[in-house]
Amino acid sequence: MRFVMVSPDSRQPRCRCQAENPLIALSRFPKPALNAFEDVCKETKPAAIYLLTTYQNPTTVTMSLGRRAHIAKIARRYGVKIIEDDVYSLLSPSPLTPISAMAPEISWYLLGTAKSFAAGLKLAYLVAPTADEAACVFWPGVRATYWMATPMSAALMSGFIRRGDDQAILSAVKAELRNRHELLDRILCNCRYVTDPGCLHVWLPLPEGTSSKELAAAIKSDGVQVADSSSYASQTFVPPEAIRVGIGNPETISVLDRGLATLHRHLPLSK
Ligand SMILES: Cc1ncc(COP(=O)(O)O)c(C=O)c1O
Repeated sequence: MRFVMVSPDSRQPRCRCQAENPLIALSRFPKPALNAFEDVCKETKPAAIYLLTTYQNPTTVTMSLGRRAHIAKIARRYGVKIIEDDVYSLLSPSPLTPISAMAPEISWYLLGTAKSFAAGLKLAYLVAPTADEAACVFWPGVRATYWMATPMSAALMSGFIRRGDDQAILSAVKAELRNRHELLDRILCNCRYVTDPGCLHVWLPLPEGTSSKELAAAIKSDGVQVADSSSYASQTFVPPEAIRVGIGNPETISVLDRGLATLHRHLPLSK
């Protein structure tokens, strides 16, 4: 059984080992190949494709509607299941239709609460192709690293939704994110970076000749942790030199302010 991952976020060594054999990574570097997915379907007959369609981690790219429709069409044609991780979409000011809505009969749609509500809930919602397929995968005897969703988290989140508090929390998170993006724009105004107002991370492509590993290490020695592009790549793939900065993690905006100022001192100016 083979799986296709589009630009996988495979930082864990165990993921990388698993990726050696059953996972095939489709990358958008050096440039997105429109027919790459169909070529893989023809050659290896994968069981499923995993996609992070909104604010891909680490590049921040959101897949266009046209590309979503294309992938849905190819997946249907070759009988490939779609696993769509839409964990960031609730923060987008203009979320796009998920691929899963274009091909619901073959799609597993995941909407986690970690990014938009609270990481501590450890809760995600799933839309499966049918109730029977969901029951078959999740009960009885889940063959994974968990048994079931924590009932306390599920009750808490259900209460938020019933009372409409989920919308209030989401609005507060979006407002905080807007403030953080304003700060980012102000501090990094003369640097090259890619992000979106609803995105919790930032991708900074580096000029040729700059080592992202060395730059990340230098920034870390000044007390700020950023990720270099190789930490997201499979072992066989050489990514472009870039770093990824999370702007959601710092506890307060003043911590982020100090972190971005430190980052800025290390970055090549390119605007
Ligand atoms: C791409 C992606 N999907 C989903 C999640 C959410 O994971 P969890 O709900 O287990 O915290 C994360 C968390 O970092 C993530 O990076």
